[in-house]
Amino acid sequence: MMIKHLLSIDQLSTDQIDLILKTADSFGEVGTRTIKKVPALRGRTVCNLFFEPSTRTRLSFELAAKRLSADVITFTADSRTSVSKGESFKDTALTLQAMGLDAIVVRHTSGGAPKRLSQWVDASVLNAGDGANEHPTQALLDLYTIRRRFGGIEGLRIGIVGDIAHSRVARSNIKAMTKMGAQVTAIGPPTLLPVTAGSWGIDITTDLDALLPKLDIVYLLRVQKERQVEQFFPSLREYSLFWGLDRRRVDLMKPEALIMHPGPINRGVEVAGDLPEMERFIVADQVSNGIAVRASLMYLMLGGSQELPAPEHS
Ligand code: CP
Repeated sequence: MMIKHLLSIDQLSTDQIDLILKTADSFGEVGTRTIKKVPALRGRTVCNLFFEPSTRTRLSFELAAKRLSADVITFTADSRTSVSKGESFKDTALTLQAMGLDAIVVRHTSGGAPKRLSQWVDASVLNAGDGANEHPTQALLDLYTIRRRFGGIEGLRIGIVGDIAHSRVARSNIKAMTKMGAQVTAIGPPTLLPVTAGSWGIDITTDLDALLPKLDIVYLLRVQKERQVEQFFPSLREYSLFWGLDRRRVDLMKPEALIMHPGPINRGVEVAGDLPEMERFIVADQVSNGIAVRASLMYLMLGGSQELPAPEHS
C-alpha cells in the first residue's frame, strides 16, 4: 500500500523505499528508449506549484510526469500569477482544487506548507522542498544513485558536509540513509551542526580531514546564503579552508569513494572549481536518476495503470 501524500521520509517504511527504488529501474529503462514515454498516467493531471526557485526538481518532476503521459501544468509564483496581486497560499490551493488535479508537486519557502496544502486539496501532494524542513524526493534519488553504484546502502559510511542546520536535503537524507542502514556522520562548522543532531542516530564532527579516509561517500551540501540571517562562520574563504573539498582532500579519500552534491553547486566555496568534472563526482547521475525515481513515485502513488512498462525489446 503506497502513501497518498509524500511530505516526509518519516512516512516511508524500508519496504516502501525498496519498492520505489526497484520500480525506478523500470522507468530508468524507459529513459533510454527512443520514445521515452509510457501510458501509465494517461488522463491524469499533475501541477508543479513552485514558490521558490528550482532547476533540477521542477524540470525532473515535469519530465517524469510527461514520461508517464500525464498532463502537466506549471505554476511558479512570480509576477505572472495572482500571487503578485496578494492571493494567499490557501486561496491559490483552493483554486487548484477546483481544477480537479490528481497530484500537486509543491516547493515552498515555509516548512510545513506541503502538509497544509494536503489538508486543503483532494490531490496527492508531493513535497519538492519546504523551507529548511525536508526534501524527500532528493533523498530517494540519492539512495537510488548510491544503490546503483554500490549495490546496496547498508553498512556504507557516508559523510554529509556543510550546513546541516539549514539543509532540508541533509534532514531528509539523514533520515533515509540511516533508515536503510548507512552509518552517517555530519561534518561542518559547529554553528551549522544543530544541537539536536545527537538524537538523529548519527555521528558529528568538525574535523573533515580526519574522517575523509574512512568514508565511502562524501556528500557535500550547498552553503545556503539565502537561508542564513546571520553570519555562522567568519567568511566563505574560511569555510572553504576548513570544510571545502579540494584536490588535497580528494587525495585523502579512498580510491573508490564517491562525491555527491544535490546542486546547485557553489564552485569555489564547498568544492574547488574544477572538481565537479572528476569521474567520482556523480552529480550528473543524481540528476538523471531523479527522473526515474520521481516517475516511480508518481506511478506508485497515483496507482498508475496496472503493469510496469515492459522492457522495449522483450
Ligand atoms: N537539488 C535541488 O533541489 O535542486 P533545485 O533547487 O535546482 O531543484
